[in-house]
Amino acid sequence: SGIGGSSNNFRRKPVIIIVVGMAGSGKTTLLHRLVNYTVLSNIRGYVMNLDPAVMTLPYGANIDIRDTVRYKEVMKQFNLGPNGGILTSVNLFATKFDEVISFIEKRADQLDYVLVDTPGQIEIFTWSASGAIITEAFASTFPTVVTYVVDTPRSENPTTFMSNMLYACGILYKTRLPLVLAFNKTDVAQHHFALEWMKDFEAFQAAISSDHSYTSTLTHSLSLVIDEFYNNLRSVGVSAVSGAGVESFFKAIEASAEEFMETY
Ligand code: GTP
Repeated sequence: SGIGGSSNNFRRKPVIIIVVGMAGSGKTTLLHRLVNYTVLSNIRGYVMNLDPAVMTLPYGANIDIRDTVRYKEVMKQFNLGPNGGILTSVNLFATKFDEVISFIEKRADQLDYVLVDTPGQIEIFTWSASGAIITEAFASTFPTVVTYVVDTPRSENPTTFMSNMLYACGILYKTRLPLVLAFNKTDVAQHHFALEWMKDFEAFQAAISSDHSYTSTLTHSLSLVIDEFYNNLRSVGVSAVSGAGVESFFKAIEASAEEFMETY
C-alpha cells in the first residue's frame, strides 16, 4: 500500500483505541497515564468517556457521554436500576453516534489518537447492541484497535488467568478488531509469568496441575483453542501508576493500526 495513494477514502488517522477491561483492572487510571504521556510527547489525542455513571474523571474528556445523556434522569424516566440505567444511557448515546463520528472527522487532521474509556461493568459495552454499534461506527471510519486491560496481580492464579484470557478471546471473536492485551499494575506484579504461559502450554499446565479440581483434559483442550488466540494479539506490560511500558503500549497500538489498515 503506497503512502497517500490509496484508492479508498479510508482515513489513516486518528487511530481509535477502545479501552475495555474487568471492573477495577485500571482502565481509567491507565487512560489518565496515556493522556499525560501524549501531552508530554506531542502526540495529539482526544479522550472520550462512554461511562454515563462515572462521578469524577482524573482526565478532561473531549467527548463525554454525560454531556448528552443524564444517567439519573434515564433511571427515573424508564424506571430502571443502576445497570439498566447505564445500558439505556449508552443505547441513547449510540443512536446519536453519527454526530460523534463527524465531530471527530472534522478534527481528524489534528488528531493522532482517540482514547475511548468504557463503562466499569465490561459487559455493558462488550455484550450490548449499542457497544457493537459504536464499535462498528468507529471501525467503518477510522483504524480501530481494542485494548483489553488485565489486572496482572489478580491473574497470577492460573485458573483466573485462563478465564480472563477466555473473556478477552470472546472480545476478539466478537469485535474482529486487532487486540492489544495491556497487563496493568506491573509495579505490583511483573507480567513475565503471563508471557511464559502464553508461549509455553506445558508451563501453563504445570502451573495449573497443582489445582486438582481441574481436569487436565479440559485444560489441554482450552489451551489448543487459546493458543490460536495468543497468536493473533499483542501483549505489553504497563503500570498506570509508574508509567512503565507506556511507550511499548503505543508501539503495539501503532502495529495493530497497521494490521487494521491491511486487513479491513
Ligand atoms: P472501574 O471504575 O470499575 O471501571 O475501574 P477501572 O478499570 O477504571 O479501574 P481504576 O482506574 O478505577 O483503578 C482501580 C484501582 O486500581 C484503583 O485503586 C487504582 O489506583 C488501581 N490501579 C490502577 N492502575 C494501577 C497500577 O498500574 N498499579 C497499581 N498498583 N494500582 C493501579
